[in-house]
Amino acid sequence: MSLSSKRPEPNASVMEIAAYVGGESKIPGVERVIKLSSNEGPFGPSPMSSKAHALEAETLHRYPDGGAVELRTAIGARFGLDPARIVCGAGSDELIALLCKAYSGPGSEVLYSEHGFLMYPISARAAGAVPVTAPETNKTANVDALLAAVTERTRIVFLANPNNPTGTYLPASEVKRLRDGLRADILLVLDAAYAEYVTAEDYSAGIELVDAGENTVMTRTFSKIYGLGAVRLGWCYAPDNVVDVLNRVRGPFNVSAPAMQAGIAAMQDVAFETMSRDHNTEWRAWTAAELSKLGLDVTPSIGNFLLVCFGSDPVRGAEAADAFLKSKGIVVRRMAGYGLPDCLRISIGLADEMRALVDALAQFLGRNSSDQAS
Ligand SMILES: Cc1ncc(COP(=O)(O)O)c(C=O)c1O
Repeated sequence: MSLSSKRPEPNASVMEIAAYVGGESKIPGVERVIKLSSNEGPFGPSPMSSKAHALEAETLHRYPDGGAVELRTAIGARFGLDPARIVCGAGSDELIALLCKAYSGPGSEVLYSEHGFLMYPISARAAGAVPVTAPETNKTANVDALLAAVTERTRIVFLANPNNPTGTYLPASEVKRLRDGLRADILLVLDAAYAEYVTAEDYSAGIELVDAGENTVMTRTFSKIYGLGAVRLGWCYAPDNVVDVLNRVRGPFNVSAPAMQAGIAAMQDVAFETMSRDHNTEWRAWTAAELSKLGLDVTPSIGNFLLVCFGSDPVRGAEAADAFLKSKGIVVRRMAGYGLPDCLRISIGLADEMRALVDALAQFLGRNSSDQAS
């Protein structure tokens, strides 16, 4: 940096970050927006969560428990894990950033698959590292391609499983093959943000791989099935050495007290979680089938969203579809930032919201879904 600089300058790699753009939630002039843009649980939080969160209002003058003991104990009990090997964060985004900060940096590379979650390159660059992508096959992570992209500079490999925004996944056997093929000094981060929605029998969130060594971490979130995106709450399960590192680099009170209580209550409402998963399974299948009938290309998904691709005809393309949906009060997610400009990502919402979405896309494409079916 020049000595004559007139203002403080950030690290060069920071200026290479394209800031994350979250899903839109408002449409000017529309009162009831159908928001299918951020993969949020459509039922909101469990009433038990809302109540537990509200009860914290009287003690906001107190710092939270920096060790998150009660929350870690509850997560441990719910998922059969040792609470000592859990670290909580302000969303799993924070944990992703902390892992990059601690394990990557200038001169190192952070590897992920072609259409992987955008917080990986953002966090890598924020840490001064170079993000590197490996090609996918059929919008699915490819273990051989990931292994081929490893260099001596690779420090972290991120795998969102299921992946956002494609909804595709690797079965447990493939994830194990990835771990087995990576050098022991490379940290493998299994981002299982959507694990609670998954019903596929060959899927694993990766707990057994975390248990098997000192170099694999699983991250989870309360933002999806538990409907707690607003409170920012995530956690990871990690080997002791990684837990120790994360506890050194995280803020002393990185999770708020209302968030912790909301999270504990959310895990107790098993009926709410089951209902949410069943609804998602049913309406994801219905929506995928209806959109396929309209001639759209729907990527098979095990998450709470669908990647829907339109042709390259600009009149019937993703951009025009997005504008048309907005005119009907429906917001979905544009995918140009993920290198998928012809696609939209659509979260699974309430039943009437999915019906409205399918009707709107049928209108957009100039035909009716039931006409197509017959
Ligand atoms: C794959 C993946 N990982 C992590 C996150 C971040 O979740 P959180 O709200 O816990 O920061 C998301 C959110 O969309 C996601 O899709």
